[in-house]
Amino acid sequence: MTYPLEPDANEMRRLVDEAMRRIVPHIESLPSQPSTNTDGAIEYARTLIEPLPHRGESYEKILDDLFNEYVPRSFNAAGPGYLAYIPGGGIFYAAVADLIADAVNRYVGVFAAAPALAQIEANVVRWFCEIVGYPRGSGGVLTTGGSLANFTAIIAARKTLLGDDFMNATLYCSSEVHHSFQKAANLAGFPHANVREIPVDEKFRMRIDELEAAIARDARPFFVVGSAGTTNTGAVDDLEAIARIATKYKMWFHVDGAYGAFFMLTERGRNAMRGIELADSVILDPHKTLFQPYGTGAVVVRDATTLRRAFSSHADYLPDMQQEEELVDFCEISPELSRDFRGLRVWLPIKLFGIEPFIEQLDEKLDLIELVTEELRKIEGIEIVAEPQLTITAFRFRSNEETRELLERINAKKRVMLTPTVYNGQFLIRVCIVSLRTHRDRIEEGLEDIREAVKSLS
Ligand SMILES: Cc1ncc(COP(=O)(O)O)c(C=O)c1O
Repeated sequence: MTYPLEPDANEMRRLVDEAMRRIVPHIESLPSQPSTNTDGAIEYARTLIEPLPHRGESYEKILDDLFNEYVPRSFNAAGPGYLAYIPGGGIFYAAVADLIADAVNRYVGVFAAAPALAQIEANVVRWFCEIVGYPRGSGGVLTTGGSLANFTAIIAARKTLLGDDFMNATLYCSSEVHHSFQKAANLAGFPHANVREIPVDEKFRMRIDELEAAIARDARPFFVVGSAGTTNTGAVDDLEAIARIATKYKMWFHVDGAYGAFFMLTERGRNAMRGIELADSVILDPHKTLFQPYGTGAVVVRDATTLRRAFSSHADYLPDMQQEEELVDFCEISPELSRDFRGLRVWLPIKLFGIEPFIEQLDEKLDLIELVTEELRKIEGIEIVAEPQLTITAFRFRSNEETRELLERINAKKRVMLTPTVYNGQFLIRVCIVSLRTHRDRIEEGLEDIREAVKSLS
């Protein structure tokens, strides 16, 4: 009897070898692939809709379709020219860790089921606590991204400070906060009307006077979020000032560091984000600034017991949960029970290299954004609207229409991909440098494309 779902040793090797035969050239060609290749991709995707297949087809054909047809029809989000949105990463070491994690498929949701593996993942979370400057007694959990990390933090805060009676409590964020915050607040049960969007100053940072004025008007101020790097312009709120206000009004202080918090590994980042360690909770996205593949987020809390109190839940059919503070069952501190062993993909590359090469990468991005901004300043007609606070700069070119046209012409070269935003009715072009594959050569090419596009419009 053979079981097709259980390949033998030779077949396992063949499967991986065949995949590797395509993965390696794909990764090696990332720099020469266009920065976007989505013309007609939606129509193409429609042609792929099909009923449940009852018979299989050849592995080679499936891989060829994937690598020749499906993968190329996309934004080159892992390539060096991706300066759009907040770039992700995709270090290959993490991909190998994922293969191992999925192949061994141990269960890490409950500590007792795989104690050493759960501990490895818990170590990753400890390192993140260390990075934001948290003391002993802090803790946290890896999520699939920043959105669920925000959600986890808001639930922990709600359960800690409000109990079951929370409908009149108010949350505060800046008008520049990432929209996943309002979404998470809403999912956590707070009506939209309970979320106050505080105006920002000329550096896109939450206005502290306006925050305090808003708090004074509300009956039950509960939660304030500071941004450690907004998505639009990379603005870092005055975290120390927000911490002071949170203490004064006995509110939960949360920091959205999904994009910015890993810059705490650099001196410039630590200067920009003073006060982050005062937060009750911080979110960080390893799939942004730790160059991990998509699906890797994190939330850390200053007091680990807040997560346990919020998410712990008993079932007779589960093994005993850990009682010692040091040992964590991830299902006791998060909304999830069964989940992937996502810690391995962060742990393996850090164990392999230490954190230093990651710090070098982040410092390189900080240098590159300074270079871009200085060069943009020299181009006639370009106005820097958001000076970089981390690794994002935003600019415009004369009018909204001309800025829009400029963006199209830059992107049409397909060496870099930039994305826009709108602030106060002004159409802006953003440059966000985060990808591990973006280095000086690509930035110089991008600047060349920008200069040429400007010239063509002059
Ligand atoms: C500042 C910020 N916060 C939160 C998020 C949401 O994170 P995710 O997309 O990982 O859910 C993002 C996403 O880009 C972000 O830039």
